[in-house]
Amino acid sequence: MARKIAITNQKGGVGKTTTAVCLAAALRASGKKPLLVDLDSQGNASAAVGLIIENDERTLKDLILEKGQAADYIVATGWTDIIPSNNSLKDLEERLVRRQAWEMLKTVLEPVEAAYDFILFDCPPSFNVFTKNALAAAGEVMIPVDSGFFPLLGLKQLLEEIGFVKRSLNPKLELLGVLACKYDRRSSLSEQTYETLKSHFPDKLFRTVIRVNVDIVKAQIAQQNLFEYNPSSKGAEDFLALAKEIIHG
Ligand SMILES: Nc1ncnc2c1ncn2[C@@H]1O[C@H](COP(=O)(O)OP(=O)(O)O)[C@@H](O)[C@H]1O
Ligand SMILES: [Mg+2]
Repeated sequence: MARKIAITNQKGGVGKTTTAVCLAAALRASGKKPLLVDLDSQGNASAAVGLIIENDERTLKDLILEKGQAADYIVATGWTDIIPSNNSLKDLEERLVRRQAWEMLKTVLEPVEAAYDFILFDCPPSFNVFTKNALAAAGEVMIPVDSGFFPLLGLKQLLEEIGFVKRSLNPKLELLGVLACKYDRRSSLSEQTYETLKSHFPDKLFRTVIRVNVDIVKAQIAQQNLFEYNPSSKGAEDFLALAKEIIHG
C-alpha cells in the first residue's frame, strides 16, 4: 500500500512544490513508484513536471466533481505519474466548503493506491479545503520550511490545524518531519534556524537539508527533471538523500 504524504505549509514560497516534484523524481530514481497530486490551483507542480494543461483537459477538479475513476485522470510524465491541476480548481473550492466535503480526495484515490509506493500531495499555500482533503487522505505530513526566513512563524498554527484534522477526520495521521529548505551553508542564519528547529522538533526534523541550488530553479523553468537536467547538482544530491531518509528512516 502506498505511503501517502501531504506536503504542506500555509506559507507560500517555502519549497512545497519543489519538494513534491523533486522528491517524486528522487523516489523514482531510487526504484520506487510515485504518484504526485497537484492540489494548488496555480498548477505549479503540473507545470514543473512538463505539463501544459489546456482548458478541456482532465484535471483533479473533474475527477472530484464527476467522481470519476482516478486511473483515467493520471498522466504519466517522464519522471512521475501525476494528477494535474490548473486554475479551474478554484471553481470547486466553494462547493466543497459548502458541502463540508473533506474526504473527497481520499475516496477517489482509494482504487489506485495499491499501484504506487508513494503518493505525494502538493498543497496550496493556505489552509483551505484542498489542504484539508490532503490531510484527511494522507498517512503522513511533511512540512517544508524556508531556512532563511522566520520558519517558526506560523508553524504553531499549522500544527494546530493538523491536530484538528487528526482528531476530527484522520486519527492515524502522523508528522513525518520538518524539512529545512533553501539552506545556505555560507549563512550562519541557516545554521541557527536549523538548531532552533531541532530544539522544537528533536525527533521530527529531517537530517537532510535542501540547499539553495540554482539548478533546481533552472530545471523548473525548463520544465525538466532535475535528475536529467543536472544529475550531479547539489539539488539532485539533497533530494536523493531525502528520499533515502524517507525510505529507510
Ligand atoms: N533549494 C532551492 N534553491 C533555490 N531555489 C529554490 C529552492 N527551493 C525552492 N526554490 C525556489 O523558490 C520558489 C518557491 O518555491 P516553491 O517550491 O514553489 O514553494 P511553495 O510551493 O511552497 O510556494 C520557486 O521559485 C523555487 O524555484
Ligand atoms: Mg507551491
